[in-house]
Amino acid sequence: MYNNSKRAATFLDKGGTGKTTSAAHLGVGLAEQGEDVLLIDLAGKQGDLAKHFGVWGDVQDQIEADDDWPNISTVFAEEWGQIASKLGDAAVESLIIETGEGVDLIPAHPGLDSLDADLGNIDDARERYSRLEEFLDEFIDPLYDVVIIDLPGLTNNVSYNGLWATKNVIAPVEMGPFESEQATALRRDLDKIEDQFDVDVELAMILPNKVDSRTKLATEYLEDFGEEYEDAIAPAHVPVSQDIRNAADAGQTVFALEEPSSTATRARDAFMENASALQKRLGGN
Ligand SMILES: Nc1ncnc2c1ncn2[C@@H]1O[C@H](COP(=O)(O)OP(=O)(O)OP(=O)(O)O)[C@@H](O)[C@H]1O
Ligand SMILES: [Mg+2]
Repeated sequence: MYNNSKRAATFLDKGGTGKTTSAAHLGVGLAEQGEDVLLIDLAGKQGDLAKHFGVWGDVQDQIEADDDWPNISTVFAEEWGQIASKLGDAAVESLIIETGEGVDLIPAHPGLDSLDADLGNIDDARERYSRLEEFLDEFIDPLYDVVIIDLPGLTNNVSYNGLWATKNVIAPVEMGPFESEQATALRRDLDKIEDQFDVDVELAMILPNKVDSRTKLATEYLEDFGEEYEDAIAPAHVPVSQDIRNAADAGQTVFALEEPSSTATRARDAFMENASALQKRLGGN
């Protein structure tokens, strides 16, 4: 048998805090440290991770050419096992695309739209939430060291599958009172999952993002988060940087910038340091 891959999911019940950005940058950071990294986009059919790596056009071409089966939603189907044994290695290969930044990606697909409802039709709760885990165990662990999943910013059957499969959450937070409530709610949610299903989902990393350290308030929140989440706080916060946004719009992470500005360099160093910490926290092989 293969060892388990190191796995984590970016998750917070709130939009726009940096889940996709963090999945992309931590993934590339881990790849730079020699890990074989797979990113999986479960965050919705808009394909944000594929856009972040400039490969969304290719994915859409495939969809338009009707060459989009199997796709990420297929692996949740009851028939996936049969499909995979019929197609052989091609089944998993056709799900995965390479990015130009050393990480591989299973992109989002329009089929994700109905996935939450489809999963809801499975009576047995354990089965409803563990389809993704089965897929990773059997088909992905032989191929990759690290799997990072970008989840929707809400709690549904899809995000439960991501939490169940990874047992580790990366929660990017902005610095504000609302965020600290959100983080508390997240911790409560994770405890609830633990009670209900007897699975241990860890808060692997609280990642302060978009931090403007020139403002006193941001610095104060940063300190509060550090105290409140002593075990989970990321070693480095990520500064607010227009370059992160610009790079994403251009289909790149800041790691790919040829002449990074000083904030982009700080962001890159922070993601690198956090990737190292994550590697240790996730343990695995
Ligand atoms: N440190 C940063 N500095 C500046 N802009 C950032 C930073 N981190 C993320 N952004 C930008 O903020 C926006 C939201 O980030 P991102 O898409 O990663 O959040 P998200 O949590 O995935 O959002 P959603 O809930 O919509 O999926 C994006 O435009 C992104 O480029
Ligand atoms: Mg996102």
